Amino acid sequence: MTSLAPSAASQGVWLKYHARDLAAWENMTGRVLEEIISTVGQMKGAAAAQLLREQGIERLHEVIDTEDVTALRNQVLEQLRQPLLAMAAAVGRQILGWDGDFYVDDYLILRINFPYEVARKTNPASENPGIGRLSANVRDQFQARKVIDPVYAPKDYHRGHPPAAWAHGPHIDSWAGHSRDGRNIWWAIGDVPAEAGMVLYPELADVPLPCERRTLYLQAGYRLPVPTYLPLQAGEMLVFDPEVLHGTHLNTTDATRVAISMRLNASRPTFDPACFYSREFWRRAADIERGHDEVLHLRREDNFGAPVTPAPVQTPPAVPVIAGTLDQAAGLIHGRLPATLPDTGRVIVDAAPYRIMLVRTGDGTRAYDAACPHYGVDLADGGCDADKVYCPACAIAFDLQTGKSSCPSLTLQSYDVRQDGTGVHIGVAPAVAT
Ligand SMILES: [Fe+2]
Repeated sequence: MTSLAPSAASQGVWLKYHARDLAAWENMTGRVLEEIISTVGQMKGAAAAQLLREQGIERLHEVIDTEDVTALRNQVLEQLRQPLLAMAAAVGRQILGWDGDFYVDDYLILRINFPYEVARKTNPASENPGIGRLSANVRDQFQARKVIDPVYAPKDYHRGHPPAAWAHGPHIDSWAGHSRDGRNIWWAIGDVPAEAGMVLYPELADVPLPCERRTLYLQAGYRLPVPTYLPLQAGEMLVFDPEVLHGTHLNTTDATRVAISMRLNASRPTFDPACFYSREFWRRAADIERGHDEVLHLRREDNFGAPVTPAPVQTPPAVPVIAGTLDQAAGLIHGRLPATLPDTGRVIVDAAPYRIMLVRTGDGTRAYDAACPHYGVDLADGGCDADKVYCPACAIAFDLQTGKSSCPSLTLQSYDVRQDGTGVHIGVAPAVAT
């Protein structure tokens, strides 16, 4: 990993910058906002646009449906493609200090993420909010080279949720076909609270991590640290190293989150042969700056990076699992805890069909389902501090005292728990006699 501009970067992994401080681009956040609002006005009428002007872009889900996002994204990115690419080039020049030629990804993403409570009830056929757009003149080439991988199956991971309710699990970008030495721009068009923003795991910079090929996210069974939340005000952007583990907090707020993602590469991009596809369409910064419209097609088979032998993965110590005994009739699980709880402060009691997480709090032990109620991911893989446990997939924080999160419909199932000389006893619903 190479460092970002060291004076402003956090551990060399990311920095925050306000778009208004980018010379010649002071008004670009407002321009994007206006383009979105005027497009909504064309689609839904003047009253819808007026509501957004008065109450903010965060109310977008009140005036459009997820089915409308595709057309909105098409139009906004089509209208603003050239200035967005030029602004990305300005980030390379002004923030990263790149003074030679460099590369800008032609693929632009307008991320419109409705609140989870709205998104989970939307049309399963609507578009994934993380999908972007290439220039019109290379889309046919892209389609012709599309590869279907027999292993990659993201729908399973998202456990039946409509795409609008998906959030990115933890990943590094070269796992998903990006070059290894890119820099990402993640720019907040409206306010982005922590509970709708990006999360990073800077402690894991340069640590070898295992990729799950089925999801292109971090493999299950790797226990994460507590996520670093990155709230942004409208107009602020993160510039970060996408080879450091990162993901997205499921939008558990009541506001729509609007952001734009762009990508830079200091040198000609090369790809990892281990991934089944590559992001092949790029532009030269110098071409963008001269107003030239040329898109380079870097065919993956001609642009593999030097082979890298992955360093061995060292998996952090897992949360201990003890076998419990389920007494169906009494509705109890019995188990024997280790004499001292480990550093993780947690123990999993496994008694099929139950998998229960015991946590230590300031006033006693609590027992919760070990599965996050969103995707069912094992919370034993998530970080934990004195007050909260964090979902390793969607970064939601659950209060250890109550099991609650920032989203009312995402609360951990809790169980009565007591300890005595014979062990730990967890009350679960007794089986109903038939
Ligand atoms: Fe990413």
